[in-house]
Amino acid sequence: MDAKTHWETVYSTKAAGAVSWYRPHLDRSLSLIQRVAPDRGTSIIDVGGGESTLVDDLLQLGYRDLAVLDISRAAIDAAKARLGDSAKEVDWRIADITSAILPNHRYDLWHDRAVFHFMTTAEQRLAYTKLVVSSVKPGGHVIVATFGPQGPTKCSGLDVMRYDESSLHHEFGLAYRLVESSTELHDTPFGSVQQFLYCYCVKTA
Ligand SMILES: C[S@@+](CC[C@H](N)C(=O)[O-])C[C@H]1O[C@@H](n2cnc3c(N)ncnc32)[C@H](O)[C@@H]1O
Repeated sequence: MDAKTHWETVYSTKAAGAVSWYRPHLDRSLSLIQRVAPDRGTSIIDVGGGESTLVDDLLQLGYRDLAVLDISRAAIDAAKARLGDSAKEVDWRIADITSAILPNHRYDLWHDRAVFHFMTTAEQRLAYTKLVVSSVKPGGHVIVATFGPQGPTKCSGLDVMRYDESSLHHEFGLAYRLVESSTELHDTPFGSVQQFLYCYCVKTA
């Protein structure tokens, strides 16, 4: 099964709160975004946003230049339906991040929780990081959360990569200054605990 079919099936058959990555709010992401990019005009893209409520919370906080990209139309449709009228304020993009076309130097902040770790081949990771280079403004913020060294080896039945601070920074390369990283223990809806690693970098060029 290809990635698109996999994710469409997940979002068409499971309730929002019935997936391992579900959190009512992405608190760690929200506090980091507000701290590093307090200007409500900051252009933010949430990559692989799925059905997450990050976009709702950012709108609520007054951020007004928001984009959400996901491979799954079902996920994007569910997020739009949940937001109702406010959905019109968001740029929704249904695309595979490894082949997506995004505007050049458009975003001040790139956010990804639990997507980059699905890039298990060097080609996928290269396509992903090339897109960050082209679409994030010089000096922009890059926040990526993957499974940490003690995290699971699979998610949603798919193989994933696990990273520590230096291996994740290494994937992005010298064009990024690592500012900080932290781990988060995520309580899944099923009672298990997953270790995430949050890395925050600034794009230097
Ligand atoms: C584990 S979920 C995380 C969702 C959300 N970021 C969150 O934290 O709740 C992974 C998400 O990445 C999306 N995804 C997986 N592979 C993708 C790809 N190649 N391109 C774009 N989105 C992808 C899936 O559809 C799914 O919504």
